[in-house]
Amino acid sequence: MHGYETQFGFAAVALCLLPGVLGQGQTVPCIDDCLAEALASVPTKGCAAGTYWRPYPESSPVDSCQPCPLGAYCPGIAYGNFTEHPVNLNRRILCPTGTFRNITGGSTLEDCELCHPGYFSGSLGLTACENCPAGRYSITSGSSKLGDCLECPAGHHCSEACSRPVPCPAGSYAPLPGLANETECLNCTLGHWCQIGAVEPLGCAAGTFGNSTRLRGNGSAPGAFLPTPWTDITPSGLYGTDCLPCPAAAFCPHASVLPTQCPAGTFQSNTLAESEAECEECPEGFRCRMPLVADLEQSNVARLPDGQPVAGTAVPEVCEEDEVVIHHFYPNVTGCVENCPYQFPRQSYCHVAGDGRVPDRTSTALMIDTLVEHRGENRPLQLRQDALSNLIQLLDNLTSEEAADSLLMLDQNGRAILHKAAMFDDVELLEVLWQYGGAGTVTLQASRDSDGFTAVMQALLLENSAAVAWLISKGSGLTDSDAQVLTARGVNITSVPSITEPSAPRLGRGSFAWTGPSGEDFGGLPKVSPMPNTTTWVFTTTTAPNTTLTTT
Ligand SMILES: *[C@@H]1O[C@H](CO)[C@@H](O)[C@H](O)[C@H]1NC(C)=O
Ligand SMILES: *[C@@H]1O[C@H](CO)[C@@H](O)[C@H](O)[C@H]1NC(C)=O
Ligand SMILES: *[C@@H]1O[C@H](CO)[C@@H](O)[C@H](O)[C@H]1NC(C)=O
Ligand SMILES: *[C@@H]1O[C@H](CO)[C@@H](O)[C@H](O)[C@H]1NC(C)=O
Ligand SMILES: *[C@@H]1O[C@H](CO)[C@@H](O)[C@H](O)[C@H]1NC(C)=O
Ligand SMILES: *[C@@H]1O[C@H](CO)[C@@H](O)[C@H](O)[C@H]1NC(C)=O
Ligand SMILES: *[C@@H]1O[C@H](CO)[C@@H](O)[C@H](O)[C@H]1NC(C)=O
Ligand SMILES: *[C@@H]1O[C@H](CO)[C@@H](O)[C@H](O)[C@H]1NC(C)=O
Ligand SMILES: *[C@@H]1O[C@H](CO)[C@@H](O)[C@H](O)[C@H]1NC(C)=O
Ligand SMILES: *[C@@H]1O[C@H](CO)[C@@H](O)[C@H](O)[C@H]1NC(C)=O
Ligand SMILES: *[C@@H]1O[C@H](CO)[C@@H](O)[C@H](O)[C@H]1NC(C)=O
Repeated sequence: MHGYETQFGFAAVALCLLPGVLGQGQTVPCIDDCLAEALASVPTKGCAAGTYWRPYPESSPVDSCQPCPLGAYCPGIAYGNFTEHPVNLNRRILCPTGTFRNITGGSTLEDCELCHPGYFSGSLGLTACENCPAGRYSITSGSSKLGDCLECPAGHHCSEACSRPVPCPAGSYAPLPGLANETECLNCTLGHWCQIGAVEPLGCAAGTFGNSTRLRGNGSAPGAFLPTPWTDITPSGLYGTDCLPCPAAAFCPHASVLPTQCPAGTFQSNTLAESEAECEECPEGFRCRMPLVADLEQSNVARLPDGQPVAGTAVPEVCEEDEVVIHHFYPNVTGCVENCPYQFPRQSYCHVAGDGRVPDRTSTALMIDTLVEHRGENRPLQLRQDALSNLIQLLDNLTSEEAADSLLMLDQNGRAILHKAAMFDDVELLEVLWQYGGAGTVTLQASRDSDGFTAVMQALLLENSAAVAWLISKGSGLTDSDAQVLTARGVNITSVPSITEPSAPRLGRGSFAWTGPSGEDFGGLPKVSPMPNTTTWVFTTTTAPNTTLTTT
């Protein structure tokens, strides 16, 4: 064999013999035929570190030292005892993983450059590191495997060869890791704001609201990779976010998309109210209402007589002179009764500022109603008698106030028991009502059902002569306009006295045409006759009577 190892051994021996030649501390590269020079015992002409000699192919060896190739370094090899003067024959060492070299002539491991942040090299001898793929990043140098590229954290995005995650801009957020592009950051949601690098949107603070997406805020999400220099201003309350201040007359709970108008019957003068509890009850003698604002949320809406819906206000308004100040017993709201033409005591149909609802009937009132239904004309006599005695027992069991209240509660047609007794022509029942507070003077003269009829009007319409006589004996009568309405319907009213509608303690004064409450005032229940199939009662109303009150 005539191999290289043999030649190398020979050269080493030769070098041993000539120790002084390399004394200047420099290695002179061989220029012509390195093999020949080496074999000719001129070891000073060995290849210097950073170059190498390529003896192959043996038939025509490259005859001069070559610059160490890309992706490698050529450290030189100590010959024999001349360790301080390394020379290189053909030793090339590939740059290790995590490094690369893209210029020739490397001589030491340090000449292999560490992969830059954002790159990695998983194999030997690379001239360039590979990009960390989009959605991953490496913040350190010298990454030596794909796994050294970390997943882009939530709240950030990482394009290809990412050396540092980029936080999603304020106004957007990223709940999931591994985003590759800023376009994948989600728009901040309604009612929320998003600081730089947000993983989750933060709710607008109570007292503020966010009616659009992409609301921004100062400060940064904890752990965000922030641009430098970066001053982290932590928002406090309203300041530092795009969330808008809650206006007066409304409140904004945490994460509100829109302000919520205070309930009708309350007021709130300040901005930045946080909860409904800050809407204050309207003081007695004032009313608190304003029209609904279409693009605000509503809490509790009331309706004015003309149907206009209203909510709470910023400033209470004092009741006007021809209005009567009441304290409405349900719901617990104070306000002004406006132009209220009739009223059962403490149970107003009138729309008070604050609430226009008719109270729900209590279970006692419903029980009473059932018993009264059993008094219908075509019921068996025994049932009718039992119903009345049961009713009396029931009323006896109540305080007089409770009894009166229960008898005066209105059904979905706006009728209390008095109306029904008149329509049933039931004088026995009328007497019971008289006794237990279900038929006071105001009620007899002024209470109207949802069709606008008083009890005596209903009795006249149905030709219930006994009831008519009883009602007249207790002070019922017809106002001029009531008389007109009945006359127009062909009712003989010659024997009915004429009255002026009373101005009861809680009645509003005024001279406005009265419009009856609509079905909506009763929670949308359909109007039904209180006397199903018991009479020939076929009266349908579309026209409310022209009730015009005179100011007293
Ligand atoms: C190498 O050379 C040094 C002097 O330069 C000498 O002291 C040493 O013994 C030598 N070593 C060998 C193994 O020849
Ligand atoms: C070598 O790599 C560096 C770092 O990536 C780069 O800046 C330089 O341009 C490259 N040189 C050549 C010759 O490709
Ligand atoms: C992100 O995506 C947009 C649209 O697809 C593209 O124009 C942009 O170059 C991408 N940005 C990066 C950093 O890849
Ligand atoms: C984010 O909001 C912008 C501007 O309002 C809109 O153009 C874009 O389509 C929204 N992006 C998403 C993902 O909803
Ligand atoms: C948000 O509310 C403010 C204040 O009421 C209003 O000026 C703005 O137009 C609203 N923006 C949207 C998108 O509705
Ligand atoms: C953030 O703070 C700066 C300086 O205090 C202010 O100018 C900027 O309007 C704030 N940004 C937001 C969204 O509030
Ligand atoms: C109304 O009054 C009742 C008892 O009088 C009370 O339990 C209830 O909390 C009050 N409601 C409001 C809204 O003040
Ligand atoms: C009257 O009240 C008592 C106790 O409150 C009750 O036990 C009784 O059943 C009641 N009677 C009627 C008729 O409601
Ligand atoms: C109306 O009734 C009275 C008695 O109450 C009677 O005298 C009169 O004739 C009646 N009128 C008509 C038009 O029926
Ligand atoms: C009462 O009359 C209505 C129609 O007017 C009918 O649908 C209903 O079944 C009747 N009820 C009874 C108990 O006869
Ligand atoms: C009802 O009242 C209006 C005006 O208030 C009046 O013009 C009309 O004639 C009245 N109708 C009746 C039937 O009284």
